[in-house]
Amino acid sequence: MSALELGLPMKVADGELPERVTIWEVGPRDGLQNEKNIVDLAVKLEFLDRLATAGLTVLEATSMVSPKWVPQLADAEELLARLEQRAGVRYPVLVPNERGLARALESGVTDIAVFASATETFAARNLNNTVDGQFAMFEPVVRQALQAGMRVRGYVSMCWGDPWEGAVDPAAVGAVGRRLLDLGCAQVSLGDTIGVATPAHVAAVLAEFPSLENIAVHFHDTYGQALSNTLAALRLGVTCVDSSAGGLGGCPYAKSATGNLATEDLVWMLDGLGIEHGVDLGALAQTSAWLAGELGRQSPSRVVRALTG
Ligand code: HMG
Ligand code: MG
Repeated sequence: MSALELGLPMKVADGELPERVTIWEVGPRDGLQNEKNIVDLAVKLEFLDRLATAGLTVLEATSMVSPKWVPQLADAEELLARLEQRAGVRYPVLVPNERGLARALESGVTDIAVFASATETFAARNLNNTVDGQFAMFEPVVRQALQAGMRVRGYVSMCWGDPWEGAVDPAAVGAVGRRLLDLGCAQVSLGDTIGVATPAHVAAVLAEFPSLENIAVHFHDTYGQALSNTLAALRLGVTCVDSSAGGLGGCPYAKSATGNLATEDLVWMLDGLGIEHGVDLGALAQTSAWLAGELGRQSPSRVVRALTG
C-alpha cells in the first residue's frame, strides 16, 4: 500500500514543490554508527545491497574516521573491498582529515563528505577541534580530493540547536556553510543533529543561503518534527533530503541525538505529494524490518511498522 494507492491529495499548488527529490540515504553510516554492538560485516553488506535494490541511488556507506572514536565503522576498508557497487549508485564516505582521505583513496572511493560543526562545543566533542581549526583540517582534504576527481559534500552540524550551547545563531550556520562551499564542496547538508528544529526555524536558517540549489537538509527526528521540517525545506526549494532506512541513527558524540528522519516516512509523504524519488517503498520497508530483527528491536518508523507489522 502507498499514499498514491490511497488516492491522497497530490500537489498543494503548482510550483510550490519540486518535481523530483534526491534521497541521500545515510542509514549504513549515520544509522549504524550509533549502534553499540558491532554489526556483522555480512549484515552491513546485505543492508547496502538491499537499499540499492529498493532503488536508492546515494548510499552513505561508512566513515574513514578514527576507529577509536567510532569502533562500529572500523571495518570501512573491508566493507568497501567486499561491497559490490551497482552502476548508477553513489557510495559516499565520511572523511574528517588527511589520514581519512588517504584511506578513502586507497579504497577507490570517489565520493566523500567532510563534516563541520556550527558550534565550538560540538567541534571539540566530535572532532577534537575548534570551528576555525576544523577548516584547517578540511582544506587539504577537500583540495586533494577535488584534484583526485572526487565529489565532495560538506555537512554542518548543530544548525538548529546544540545540547550544550542551546540556541545557535543562523548567521553562524550560514558562515560555516558558505565556508564549506568556498572550499569547493559541491553541496552542503544542514544537520539538525539533535532534532529540535521546527518549520519556521528551518526557513530562518535556509534564508542564510543565497541559493538552495546546493543545499541539502538532514533532520533527526527526536521531537517528531523531521517530516514537517522537510516539507518546509521542499517548499523553499531544497531538492536533496537525507534520511535513514527505518529511522535508525544518531551521533555518539551528541547528547540527545536520536534517529534520522526515516526514509520510509519521507517516501510515503513524497508519494502523497506526487514527487518522484525512484524508491520501491515495499522493498525498503521489508529491508528495515529485516535489519530491525538483526538489531533486536523494532524500527521507530511508523511507516515501517504500518507496512510490515
Ligand atoms: P584526534 O584524537 O584529535 O586525532 O581525533 P589524532 O590525529 O590525535 O589521532 C588519534 C588516533 O586516531 C591516532 O592513532 C591516529 O592515527 C588515528 P594512534 O596514533 O593513537 O594509534 N586517526 C585515524 N585513524 C583512522 N582514520 C582516520 C584517523 N584520524 C586519526 N581518519 C578525529 C580527531 C577527527 C580523528 C576524531 O575526532 C574523529 O575520528 N572524529 C569522528 C567522529 C565521528 O565520526 N562522528 C560522527 C559523524 S558526524 C555526525 O554524525 C553528524 C552528521 O550526521 C550530521 C548531523 O547529524 O548533524 C554528519
Ligand atoms: Mg546525522
